[in-house]
Amino acid sequence: MKPFLIIGNWKLNGNVLFVKNYINKIKNFLEKTKLNFCEISIAPAYTYLYLSNICLNNIQMNLTAQNVDINLYGSFTGEISIKMLKDIGIKYVIIGHSERRIFHKETNEYISKKFNIIKSNGLIPILCIGETELQKNMNQTKDICAEQIDIILKTQGIEAFDNTVIAYEPIWAIGSGKSANPIEVQNIHKFIRKYISQKNLKISKNLIIQYGGSINKNNMDIFIKQKDINGFLIGKASLTAENFISIVKKAEKIMSFL
Ligand code: 13P
Repeated sequence: MKPFLIIGNWKLNGNVLFVKNYINKIKNFLEKTKLNFCEISIAPAYTYLYLSNICLNNIQMNLTAQNVDINLYGSFTGEISIKMLKDIGIKYVIIGHSERRIFHKETNEYISKKFNIIKSNGLIPILCIGETELQKNMNQTKDICAEQIDIILKTQGIEAFDNTVIAYEPIWAIGSGKSANPIEVQNIHKFIRKYISQKNLKISKNLIIQYGGSINKNNMDIFIKQKDINGFLIGKASLTAENFISIVKKAEKIMSFL
């Protein structure tokens, strides 16, 4: 069985003290609890990744970066390369997040270049996809998800999806406090897996499909029980170690019964 992948996306939050306290609390928790069903990771801002890596000190949690540049080195002021992320022990890299698509005008083509540079350097991309509220109301969710996946299929082939993560994050559910309907999410996740399976069954079975959008400890139960929901990408509810730990504890318990 695939581990249930729970990642806390801290976005533009945190400071040195926050990082140290947070990781300490996770450490204390992991000293008492071995995770058998979940894999956990946090995605602090770039400035805190190195510190986080030092604080983690081989506990059962890994690190995710919130972004990466498409270049490896050179005159690209303000950018961070995949080699740099690899150098400090990062496992996953989030790309295609709607906040970057919207606020930084990142296109499907640009995101596909990021996907490629991550894969070719042996890290794991978390490709965020999802529709706006208008697109949902116009019944375009599946088309939008397919379009966001297609660009990678066309440029890199189905093999690119081996050992990768897709995070379905309906834009209207992010930060709204209103998560999507778990049954509808299952339906979209099933569609995504089927879309990949038409090209390669084995890759589709191994694909981890996370849900993201206002997930918290009170609304997570039904999501976890869905066959094609293999993890969560959590924003706000990951911003205290206590909440994050509650989610992980609950996920471990539910997963042990499935
Ligand atoms: P919220 O959990 O705050 O809705 O954020 C979800 C998200 O964007 C994770 O990447």
